[in-house]
Amino acid sequence: MSINYKDLVLEELNYNSYLQLPQLLNLQNLRSNPEHPDEMFFIIIHQTAELWFKEVLHETTKLVTGFRQDMVSHALKAIKRIGAIMELQVAQIRLLSTLTPIEFAGFRDLLKPASGFQSAQFREVEFTYGLRNPFFLNFFEKLPEIRARLEKIQHQPSIYDEALMCLKRAGHDVPDEVLNRTVTESPVLNEKLAALIKSIYEHPKEEFHWVLLFEAMVDLDEKLVLWRKTHAVMVERTIGRKMGTGGSTGYQFLRTREDLKCFPELWEVRNAIGAGSY
Ligand code: HEM
Repeated sequence: MSINYKDLVLEELNYNSYLQLPQLLNLQNLRSNPEHPDEMFFIIIHQTAELWFKEVLHETTKLVTGFRQDMVSHALKAIKRIGAIMELQVAQIRLLSTLTPIEFAGFRDLLKPASGFQSAQFREVEFTYGLRNPFFLNFFEKLPEIRARLEKIQHQPSIYDEALMCLKRAGHDVPDEVLNRTVTESPVLNEKLAALIKSIYEHPKEEFHWVLLFEAMVDLDEKLVLWRKTHAVMVERTIGRKMGTGGSTGYQFLRTREDLKCFPELWEVRNAIGAGSY
């Protein structure tokens, strides 16, 4: 007779019941039959990635609160943790280098048409941080609630917009065209904003917290780029240049997304800062 985990959870508070481990550890349903020895590994990597995306989104609400309440140090605290989580996500993708092409081919066809394109949380992270390509909404046609949620986020200020509004309230001359931009679109480099950020880097005076925040934002953008690059390379070594299960060209498509930046001026400023800048 199997254990009634439900009763266990209701009965007493302990490690297992608090973390709802019986439920959590029962969610790995393999599709291969007989079980492919590597499918469990594949499922757990994806499930843990989704748990971490959930935490990224949770921390992001703190980040937004920090900006909206003009508490830059609180925003900095939140973004540091988000960056650290994304660093772990990159390392987690690398775990897949232990999955050989033969091993993956042993169960890949059973997953079709499941694809990372359908990750609502990944897309929510992208949309929240400002990468708002409407093409990806197509993958949620059959999930109207998720699609509506993404569309709502698409019409709200991005994390970068929140940071720049906060910078403006702190007395900095953030260009109006940046503050009034069309938020449904991804950010486009603005030279005047890059010049403002350069001047803050060069003359932070008693506002060095902004430099710390900008650097933490670049750290996070870097982790997001590294995630995409690491994922693309992993895809090439696992399935070569075959098409993705979501219908894209696979590796070739993923390469086109590698260098997307959420905070373009924070990168652009690196081109302008040179000898004698400090
Ligand atoms: C053997 C392992 C994996 C392979 C072969 C693989 C392959 C692919 C391919 C080919 C795509 C392009 C879309 C498509 O046509 O399906 C894609 C997208 C994606 N995959 Fe993976 N993937 C793997 C593991 C993972 C893991 C562990 C995650 C963790 C969350 C993940 C998340 C995503 C996401 C979020 C996208 C969308 C990326 C974007 O839109 O830029 N993948 N994957």
